[in-house]
Amino acid sequence: MIRKAIYTNENEEKLLALGEEWNFHDAKTNEYLHGLHPYPAKFIPQIPRLAINKYTQEGDTVYDPFCGSGTTLVEASALKRRSVGTDNNSVAVLVSKVKTEIYTSDDVNDLRCFLQSFEAMLPSAKLRRDLVTEDKNFYYWFSTETIDHLSKIKGLILEVDENLRELLLSVFSSIIVKVSYQDSDTRYARKDKVITSDEVTRSFIGKVKKVIKEIDSSLGYCQLDSKVYQADSRNVSMIDGESVDLIVTSPPYLNAYDYHKYHRQRLHWLDADIKKVRTTEIGSHDQFTKKNAVAQPYFDDMAMCFSEWHRVLRSGGKCVIVIGDAIVSKSPVYVADTFCDILTRQGFSIVERSIRRLKPTNRSFNVKNSRMDSEHVLVLEKV
Ligand SMILES: C[S@@+](CC[C@H](N)C(=O)[O-])C[C@H]1O[C@@H](n2cnc3c(N)ncnc32)[C@H](O)[C@@H]1O
Repeated sequence: MIRKAIYTNENEEKLLALGEEWNFHDAKTNEYLHGLHPYPAKFIPQIPRLAINKYTQEGDTVYDPFCGSGTTLVEASALKRRSVGTDNNSVAVLVSKVKTEIYTSDDVNDLRCFLQSFEAMLPSAKLRRDLVTEDKNFYYWFSTETIDHLSKIKGLILEVDENLRELLLSVFSSIIVKVSYQDSDTRYARKDKVITSDEVTRSFIGKVKKVIKEIDSSLGYCQLDSKVYQADSRNVSMIDGESVDLIVTSPPYLNAYDYHKYHRQRLHWLDADIKKVRTTEIGSHDQFTKKNAVAQPYFDDMAMCFSEWHRVLRSGGKCVIVIGDAIVSKSPVYVADTFCDILTRQGFSIVERSIRRLKPTNRSFNVKNSRMDSEHVLVLEKV
């Protein structure tokens, strides 16, 4: 069977031409705190930026139901919009919160002071085995030396004032895969590496320095409220009806990723409820790669999300969705076409749809099941 990236009954050439507007191949993607933490299938910031500029005014509210590393929320803040994000994964929630905090020059100074005292205190810091999970598998993914060293770093972070603790924890989380035996951020396989305690320290300090620089150079980009909730997007009762002006999101791609696995060691270090993260994840590769799997449960889950989107959006509010097609049990799944069918049945109308090409070097989409060199952009309106 030919592995295509796109399956649609629409005119593909026409959709590709319309998608030119959404291709940002040479764009800078590390402004603000966008580069704080690796995240699989992250938006390039220019996508939510274009959507927010096109469909909202200053002071409006933008919602991302699958906020991941918070790209939509950061862009909304930088454009003086309020933002709300939900994600079922604790790593996503921590990183999104931290990126949309309002930092001041006092915080930058406090971070510099932390760094100084951290470097002085680390050599004599206490071993904190109490901060290490009891999961025996943990030692398959890290050397004992690295676990001990990370426990000391985490111990020192926990002594920091609350306002900067989460920022430092997300820096800590950002280096976890690099200092573990996990192959990469999108490959959950063990690879032998030699990692010394000095390298762990250097990674952490280097990242803190980078973050201080980034915060210092972009002070004031967040001025309005941003709320981030750890929630299953099928039920977001904490968000009021008709309170959102625009939804911009990239839902989990069907049968492509296992966010609970890629972040598993981070989730351990953050004391997260891993089982809950795993069992609430929509579309995971684990679930849909099983023998004789069918795509329908994915569309049932997404239909529940769409119904929540309809409730929280104001009338006339737009919804911009970036999504790829998939293969399940060796059969192509027309994900974007099916989304359009479900959404129109649920009270949305299609404003425009197109196909954007991914940058040829985009490695985050390097999965066996699909070439994923392009993805759909759907714009809908609540009628
Ligand atoms: C394609 S990623 C979003 C990436 C994001 N746009 C960014 O720039 O980082 C999809 C996200 O959906 C989240 N997710 C999966 N199932 C979910 C659920 N039931 N409720 C909320 N979020 C979920 C995953 O944890 C992941 O962060």
